[in-house]
Amino acid sequence: MSGKLIVGNWKMNGSLAANQDLVRAVMAGLSDKSCKVAVCAPAVYLPQLQQLAAGSHLLWGAQDVSAHEQGAYTGELSATMLREFGVRYAIVGHSERRQYHGETDAVVATKAQRALAAGITPIVCVGETLAEREAGHTEEVVKRQLAAVIHTNGHCISEIVVAYEPVWAIGTGKTASPEQAQQVHALLRAQLKAATAHPERIALLYGGSMNTANAASLLSQNDIDGGLIGGASLKSADFLSIVAAASH
Ligand code: 13P
Repeated sequence: MSGKLIVGNWKMNGSLAANQDLVRAVMAGLSDKSCKVAVCAPAVYLPQLQQLAAGSHLLWGAQDVSAHEQGAYTGELSATMLREFGVRYAIVGHSERRQYHGETDAVVATKAQRALAAGITPIVCVGETLAEREAGHTEEVVKRQLAAVIHTNGHCISEIVVAYEPVWAIGTGKTASPEQAQQVHALLRAQLKAATAHPERIALLYGGSMNTANAASLLSQNDIDGGLIGGASLKSADFLSIVAAASH
């Protein structure tokens, strides 16, 4: 893929006032030379993002999307609803949703399908827990998670983004070493190559305690096309410094 992609995942953080400051500061720090940049906000703030960032270099996304198209699903938000607010990306299968909301590989695959059908790029998260890594199951776990999405989405798979987020590295300050991350990215790349004629279109992001200090070395790896940033995306200076590391 050409150019890197840096995506902030604000998780359940923010307020109208704080978002305004953050988004304005981020937009002010972006230039024509910046790589592709997006922030995934809590859904209630998507209209605010649309208002603040429309026409700018900053794209925005949702943190989840319903697996259903429409109907009696109280509390859910459909992909077509999100699209009405200019949403370009939707994170699907984040480990926090797999862990706390019981999302299975099959549900994640359907969510990716709904997003694609509405013209939204799903950012499909995969990653092993510490126990799975220690048991030597990393490869099997991430391949299984990605295989479900490939199986359900067929040739559309070239339109997705994949984020490798080792669960043990999320919000812990423990980052996968560049070599550890590259190793998993390479096998995900190989899996995608076998599944589509256009694997080069698919960005493979790393996520898990990416910060100003480690971004450059992670992003310099062959198969790391960008980052999915949690904590560090909430501070404009940190987020912009990661964007800068991805922009040359
Ligand atoms: P942290 O960058 O806070 O570890 O979060 C990573 C993440 O889960 C992004 O989706």
